[in-house]
Amino acid sequence: MCGITGYIGYRIASPIIIKGLERLEYRGYDSAGIMVYNQGKLEISKTKGKVADLKKILSDKIHKEANIGIGHTRWATHGEPNDVNAHPHTSNSGDLVIIHNGIIENFNSLRKELSKRGFKFESDTDTEVLINLIEDVKNNNNCKLGKAVQIALNQVVGAYAIAVFDRNNPEEIVVAKLGSPLAIGISKDNTEFFIASDASPFIEYTNNAIYLEDQEMAVISLGTDIKMYKVADDSQVEPYIQELKLNLDQIEKGGYDHFMLKEIYEQPRAVTDTYRGRLLANKGIIRVAGIDDNIEKFLKAKRIIISACGTSWHAGLVAEYLFEDLARIPVEVEYSSEFRYRNPIINEGDIVIAISQSGETADTLAAIKLAKEKGAFVFGVCNVVGSTIARETHAGAYTHAGPEIGVASTKAFTTQITILALIALKLGKAKGVISQEKYQSYLYELESIPEKIEQLLKQDKKIKEIAKIYKDSPNFLYLGRGYNFPVALEGALKLKEISYIHAEGYPAAEMKHGPIALIDENMPIVAIAPNLKHYEKVVSNIHEIKSRKGKIIAIVTEGDVDVKVLADHVIEIPHISEAFSPLITTIPLQLLSYHIAVMRNCNVDQPRNLAKSVTVE
Ligand code: AGP
Repeated sequence: MCGITGYIGYRIASPIIIKGLERLEYRGYDSAGIMVYNQGKLEISKTKGKVADLKKILSDKIHKEANIGIGHTRWATHGEPNDVNAHPHTSNSGDLVIIHNGIIENFNSLRKELSKRGFKFESDTDTEVLINLIEDVKNNNNCKLGKAVQIALNQVVGAYAIAVFDRNNPEEIVVAKLGSPLAIGISKDNTEFFIASDASPFIEYTNNAIYLEDQEMAVISLGTDIKMYKVADDSQVEPYIQELKLNLDQIEKGGYDHFMLKEIYEQPRAVTDTYRGRLLANKGIIRVAGIDDNIEKFLKAKRIIISACGTSWHAGLVAEYLFEDLARIPVEVEYSSEFRYRNPIINEGDIVIAISQSGETADTLAAIKLAKEKGAFVFGVCNVVGSTIARETHAGAYTHAGPEIGVASTKAFTTQITILALIALKLGKAKGVISQEKYQSYLYELESIPEKIEQLLKQDKKIKEIAKIYKDSPNFLYLGRGYNFPVALEGALKLKEISYIHAEGYPAAEMKHGPIALIDENMPIVAIAPNLKHYEKVVSNIHEIKSRKGKIIAIVTEGDVDVKVLADHVIEIPHISEAFSPLITTIPLQLLSYHIAVMRNCNVDQPRNLAKSVTVE
């Protein structure tokens, strides 16, 4: 997820764009850049780092005169965060300039085609390919920028929110959108226009905005009305201008009260972005570059060791079930902080998978270094492109969750499981230990996960009502079996870290080995009881709790009857396979902990004593 913004009007553009980028930094902050144009002079400044770093390199003159410009703050998806890969990008002629938020899936094939036609590329980004495709189309059709953008985008597969500028027609900016957000702020008298990923850069100047729909584009020219078109066929679209009622803080959080809630609701998009370009269900294909390039190592692996911390460690536990179940590869999961100090035995052929949202967790980084010293092949699963762990591992795969601002990991967990499920399925298929029929059905089911999460998010109100009943409980227990044992641990961690209520997760069968002594009428127990492999056993555990007057909040498959008569509350989830159930059962637990924390007036996004990235031991 990146932040894009632009301005064309009578004011000086640079300060407006820079302040807009500062307001969009929550969308991405590994590099930033700006282009301004004034009387034949076009200047691009860009740098690795934050907007504050960009401000230091701006030359004086043109930034005090130019009335048109575009700016970008990056969350890298293709290409390391560095000066060259920072946006804006220019076409080979230097005439066309682009900023882009999204992922062009077919950029490799487009790049090869353009290279054959003599185009050269400086960066590793998909965006530089796109601007040169637009230039190629513009040259071949001898057309204006708007038409060239429209034709070029019909050759693109992926997601985009773009703003494009042509120095030979400096009175206009062309924008287009598919899958990534893009808003146009308009002054009352059409004397100035603002472009942005959300309204935060322009809300102080105007409340009037057009939100482009998918596959829409617009040509913005000073002094004339905005002209909007459909990308598909260039047919004109009537602009719909709405008056915004949101304030700045609400806009940065996408209208949600907290980043955590926004990120919980982003999970359908985040899971989609994580499998986009990797899961080709109709063709029965899974492509994960870091695995494809090292497939022999993975097929020969006698053991996979997973090293992580916190929520990422819980994702590792889910991966243990996935790899052993679907790929028949022995797995052990280690807390990085323990693994790094216990002089572990690592044999030739062992593979270590390090999981980290931030890619900066000190214990996991140390575990990676130890594993490498002992000869292991180390594969990273990170959410931050170019992070230290991403650079330290021999290979890896990025989750495309976008920046996770809330300290409590939510979309990181579901996107980590998504990529790990893809890898487990890919290896199971390659090893011939999973039938074609089962493999194919898993691929289709994985594609349906975003929709199932969307469906489940509709129960938010009901979950909030349950939260109200138990918000003052001093303790919680979370129980799950099989794939949902790690989800029980994750649910307990979510509650602990944002509401400060003590909570523990257990394998449901462990109750009778001690924890059942804790149960009485004051103890709420979250029982994860989908109608899957362990259903009958979990129902028995629920009976045990019921007979001791525990309060039961059960996560059940929609249409469940048996648990409904036992539990105090049920939250129904859509039908899902055992293997992918963690992607679904975790959602109500995220919402439950969120609402309890809010009702307890806790600082949800920045809980006490915690940091988003634990870069110390
Ligand atoms: C999870 O909600 C916590 N924020 C924390 O446990 C986190 O998962 C852990 O610190 C690991 O962070 P990483 O994924 O960035 O390595």
